[in-house]
This record gives sequence, C-alpha cells and structure tokens, in this order.
Amino acid sequence: MVTEGLAWRLTAFGDPRTGVRQEKLRYADPMAGEVLVRARTAGAGYPDAMMAAGAFPLLGEPPFGLGEEVCGDVVAVGPGSRFTVGDRILGITAFLRGWGGYAEYAYVREGSAIPVPAPLTDEEAGGFPIAYRTAYAGLVERGGLTAGEQLVVLGGAGSSGVAAIQLGKALGATVTAVAGSPEKVAFCRSIGADHAVSHRDQDLAKELRGATGGGADLVFDVVGGETAGTAVRALARHGRIAIVGFASGAPVALDPVDMLLRNYTAVGVLADAHSPAGEEAAWGRLAELAEQGLLRTPVGKVWSFDQVPDMIAEQTTPPPGKIVVKIAG
Ligand SMILES: NC(=O)c1ccc[n+]([C@@H]2O[C@H](COP(=O)([O-])OP(=O)(O)OC[C@H]3O[C@@H](n4cnc5c(N)ncnc54)[C@H](OP(=O)(O)O)[C@@H]3O)[C@@H](O)[C@H]2O)c1
Repeated sequence: MVTEGLAWRLTAFGDPRTGVRQEKLRYADPMAGEVLVRARTAGAGYPDAMMAAGAFPLLGEPPFGLGEEVCGDVVAVGPGSRFTVGDRILGITAFLRGWGGYAEYAYVREGSAIPVPAPLTDEEAGGFPIAYRTAYAGLVERGGLTAGEQLVVLGGAGSSGVAAIQLGKALGATVTAVAGSPEKVAFCRSIGADHAVSHRDQDLAKELRGATGGGADLVFDVVGGETAGTAVRALARHGRIAIVGFASGAPVALDPVDMLLRNYTAVGVLADAHSPAGEEAAWGRLAELAEQGLLRTPVGKVWSFDQVPDMIAEQTTPPPGKIVVKIAG
C-alpha cells in the first residue's frame, strides 16, 4: 500500500523561510524496524536550526525531511513489529535517512518508540522522545547520576535541559538549573529545579558553589563555551561533566592538568545505546517514569503545521519550554 501526504523538507541550506518547502510525498510500507504513523504532533528544537544551516553533524546534503520526533497513530507496520495498526505512539523518526516528522505521515524507528504513557497529551508526547532520551543518556548511561548527588543542568529552560531537570529530580538528585533570564530561571524552578541561576544576570561561579553546597557531582552540558567552563570550575572532586552539545556555539574547553589535579571526568554523550537491549532498557525506564507522572514535557509554544519554516527560524532564540508543532488530531 502506498500512502500520500504533505511534508516539510529542507531543499537548500540557509534561511529556513526560503529553504524549507512543503511537498507531497509517497510512503511505501515500512521496512523491518520501522512503523508508519499518521502524525498528531512533532517536537522541535535547536537541532532543526542546525540542520537548516548545514551544521548538523549526522546529515548530508539536502533535500531531506526535518523533524526528529513525533506522536502519532500507527497506520502500517514493518515485518515482525511489536506494534499494531491504531496504536498511539511516540518516538524518533527516520530523519537520519531523510524522512522527518514535520509531515502528515512519518516513519518511526521502532526501537526508539513506546506507546504514549497515559498522563501525556499529544503535545507532551510529541515533545518527549529526543529530550528525555538525551537526558537519560547524559544522566544515567554516561553520567552515572545517583540519588543524593548534586546535579547542575546548563541550558535548563531549553528542550534537553527541562528533561534533565525532571529526570534528575526523579532520580533523587538535587538540581541546580542555569538559564539566561529571570523569566527562564523562574520557569526552571516551576518545573522542579531546587535552585536556578541566571548566567547573564548573576555571578555564576559563586551562585553554583552556593547552590551545590561546595561542588557539583555532575554537570549536564548542552551549552559549552564560557558557561560550561564556569560550571566545570564548580565541580566537586571526583565530579563528572557530561558533554551533550554546544548551543553557545563552542564546546567546553577542558584542561587535562586541571582534570588530573581535581580528579574529575568528562564523558561524551550521544543519545544512542548502540544495542537493541540498551535502547529497550532506556525507553522502558522513561516510559515507567512518565506513567508515574514524574516526567511530563513542559510544553512551551505550539505552532501550526503551516508555520514550520517560521518556527525553525525562531529556534536560535527559543522561549522557555518545549516547542511543538500540531499536525492533526
Ligand atoms: N548528544 C546528543 O545526543 C544530543 C541530543 C539532543 C541535543 N543535543 C545538542 O544539545 C544542544 C542543545 O539542544 P536543545 O535541543 O536542548 O536546545 P535548546 O532547546 O535551544 O536549548 C539550548 C539552551 O542553551 C542555552 N544557551 C544558548 N547559548 C548559551 C550561552 N552562551 N550560555 C549559556 N546558555 C546558552 C539557551 O538558554 P538561555 O537562553 O537560557 O541561555 C537554550 O535554552 C544542541 O547543541 C544539540 O545539538 C545533543
């Protein structure tokens, strides 16, 4: 069976308002390991802006579909699928092979998909997969966070940051969030951060030392640059920094001599367990915590399907909360 539907695709690097175009695509039945969904919502984020600018490391030349994550209803399954037509699921799209989620229909990677946990709305579900999977990779798989530890979350009001704040709290850590304005600081507190600090209006080094009671055990770093450098100086002995991204434009600069003298560790984070069993464990735990109401996407601005190019253009200076595109339903 072939399904047809409208999809937003990047046709040229540069300004998304001209380079992102709507096209009618034909969808063949999914291959093994994927399902096809009728999309309800899609989550957005800074990586969209990176993709449009040609700065996303894992993708080649356009044209390709944009949109890393969706919530939708399964309309077709690949051979051997554990899903059934009609299931409402959330998951990561096949964007790495050019099929995105800003589309009426989307291929979803079965190993990175779960039935939507009961508490989540369509908007919360569409904005869940990438952020919470990334937070899980940074805090659990790579960062080794344990209950009672001091966690510092950089970019706390952004997509990955909000997920790391909630997951950190769910895992029993004391969480200090860092964000860029009084409004964003208040937002971080409203979603559960124990402490929140502005990297623009406050003395970050002093505030972090005070908030963490002398030093952070783990820094979740999606920002890099100067802010991450300051957070590293606030690490306790035997602390860790989980390097997830560099929204500031530059990765954190590390000094091996300082690492040696203060006994701290830096780990790189790619949100991919590289094994079906590892992915299953990650998604199973996230589903469990979301079912308990401990993880719930703080939805920020919701855009309509016809606004996708404008939405991507705004991703370089997003308002607090998770940006979501409403597609159907
Ligand atoms: N490794 C992985 O698997 C993985 C997965 C997902 C994302 N990422 C990466 O993680 C990064 C963030 O992604 P995201 O979706 O969370 O982005 P996002 O929603 O745009 O959030 C990024 C946050 O960074 C903050 N920021 C920007 N410049 C800053 C600076 N100079 N100093 C301090 N804070 C700054 C902004 O907050 P303020 O306005 O409050 O400063 C913003 O809220 C990107 O580089 C992305 O590619 C990596």
